[in-house]
Amino acid sequence: MIEELVRQNRSCRRFHQDRAVPRETLLGLVDLARVSASAANLQPLKYALSFEPEKNAAIFATLAWAGYLKDWPGPGEGERPTAYIVMLGDRDITANFGCDHGIAAQSILLGARAQGLGGCMLGSIKRDQLRELLSLPERYEILLVIALGVPKEEVVLTEVGPDGDIKYWRDARGVHHVPKRRLDEIIIK
Ligand SMILES: Cc1cc2nc3c(=O)[nH]c(=O)nc-3n(C[C@H](O)[C@H](O)[C@H](O)COP(=O)(O)O)c2cc1C
Repeated sequence: MIEELVRQNRSCRRFHQDRAVPRETLLGLVDLARVSASAANLQPLKYALSFEPEKNAAIFATLAWAGYLKDWPGPGEGERPTAYIVMLGDRDITANFGCDHGIAAQSILLGARAQGLGGCMLGSIKRDQLRELLSLPERYEILLVIALGVPKEEVVLTEVGPDGDIKYWRDARGVHHVPKRRLDEIIIK
């Protein structure tokens, strides 16, 4: 079950924008992050939630999508995320968030996938704009944004070919292909 979940847990960037993700669902996902591993058990992560169309639209404007797809500016109106979880590091707890936010983000996305939702971590963020929009005090470092919604795209894993190209791409049907390195390439000893 966990194997299938991890393999199916692909970054999703197009959604059914008419299918809302309620606040309760976001709370359940953050609760999975809450019980995830944390260096020295400091638990410095805090979260800002968005599930209303207006706020979603404002957050969308701060994000950059799929840098390798040069002719795709990101999901169009009607295919945009219906919720966001903004992951913050509380500098009053520590100055170094290590990989806590990566672990927490994976817990959130696996939890989302397990209930038929899809999402994408976004690190390419206009941070000043997002800070102002959410009225975030300097105390909080913006670490990642997780976009969420009901998936409207097919994503498949492929193998990195002999040319070594790791760039994801879309075929004529709009299927998103994600090349992964082979197992024997990443085990070095
Ligand atoms: C830390 C991190 C930051 C990312 N930032 C972005 C981003 O800003 N925009 C985006 O479209 N995808 C972003 N992604 C998604 C990656 O592009 C994606 O994980 C990669 O293409 C592999 O696809 P997969 O998640 O389906 O395995 C990010 C992923 C990670 C782990």
